[in-house]
Amino acid sequence: MTKNSPRRRFDGKVALITGGNAGIGFAAATAFAGEGARVMIAARRRQEGEQAVAAITAAGGEARFVETDVASADSVRAMVGACVEAYGRLDIAFNNAGITGDVTTLVADADEERFDQVMEINVKGVWLSMKYEIPELLKAGGGAIINCSSVAGLRGGPRSGAYYGSKHAVIGMTKTAALEYATHNIRINAVCPGLIMTDLIATGFAAAPEKLASLTARIPMQRSGQPHEIADAVLWLASSESSFVSGVALPVDGALSAT
Ligand SMILES: NC(=O)c1ccc[n+]([C@@H]2O[C@H](COP(=O)([O-])OP(=O)(O)OC[C@H]3O[C@@H](n4cnc5c(N)ncnc54)[C@H](O)[C@@H]3O)[C@@H](O)[C@H]2O)c1
Repeated sequence: MTKNSPRRRFDGKVALITGGNAGIGFAAATAFAGEGARVMIAARRRQEGEQAVAAITAAGGEARFVETDVASADSVRAMVGACVEAYGRLDIAFNNAGITGDVTTLVADADEERFDQVMEINVKGVWLSMKYEIPELLKAGGGAIINCSSVAGLRGGPRSGAYYGSKHAVIGMTKTAALEYATHNIRINAVCPGLIMTDLIATGFAAAPEKLASLTARIPMQRSGQPHEIADAVLWLASSESSFVSGVALPVDGALSAT
C-alpha cells in the first residue's frame, strides 16, 4: 500500500477463519487479507492450508495456517492460541468450517454415527470456536464473530435432517451469544448462504445430482452463488459499516429464503 492509497477496512486487524483453506472460507480469507487483515486459516487439511497461505501471500496479503479440528476442544484452544501467538491479538472470527453429512436419507433411516459427526463439526465446532475466541475479543476491547449457518438454518428440507438441525442450532447459539456480549463491544452474527458452488456441494450432492438440479431450479435468481458473494457479506458483518447489527441471521441466497 502506498502513502496515498485509501485506508483498507481491516488494516491492523487480525481475522481467524475456520475452514479457510477452501470454498467460502478461502474466499473470505482472501478478501480479508486483501483489505489489510492479518489472517489465520484454521482447517484440517495441511497441504490445502499451506496452498491457501501461499496464494494469499503471493497476492501481497498476510496469512498463516494452523491445523485444526473444530470438533476437538484441545485443537480449538490451540487454534486460538496459535493466532494470538502469531499476531498478538484477535479481532474477527469467521466460524465457517462445516460438513453436509448425508443428504439422501429420511430422518427415520439416518445413521447415528453420521448424525453425530455433523453435530460435532457444525454445532460443537461453532460453540467451541466462540468459547475460545470470545475471551480474546474481550482482551482486544471488542470485535466481531460471524458464524456460518445456511438457508438450511431458516427452513426445513427433506433428507438432510442432521444438517438442517445443525444450521438451526448455529443461529440459536449466535443469537444467544449476541445478547450475552452486546454490551462488551462484541457483535455476533450468522451468515446464511444459499446454494454456493464449492467442494462441499460437489461432494455432498455427488450421490444425488437430481436433488442439486431441483435445488437450483427453486432459487428465484435461477442460479447458484459464488463464494465471493458470501465473503462480501461476511466482510460487511465484520466491518464498522455494520456497527449496529448483532444477532442477525443474514440470508445471502438469491432470494431462496423469501420463497
Ligand atoms: N456451499 C454451499 O452451498 C453452502 C450453503 C450454505 C452453507 N454453507 C456452509 O458454508 C461453510 C463452508 O462451506 P463450503 O461450501 O465452503 O465447503 P468446503 O467443503 O469447500 O469447505 C469446508 C471447509 O471446512 C473445513 N472443515 C470441515 N470439517 C472441519 C473440521 N472438523 N475442522 C476444521 N475444518 C473443517 C474443510 O477443511 C474446508 O476447509 C459450511 O459451514 C457450510 O455448511 C455452504
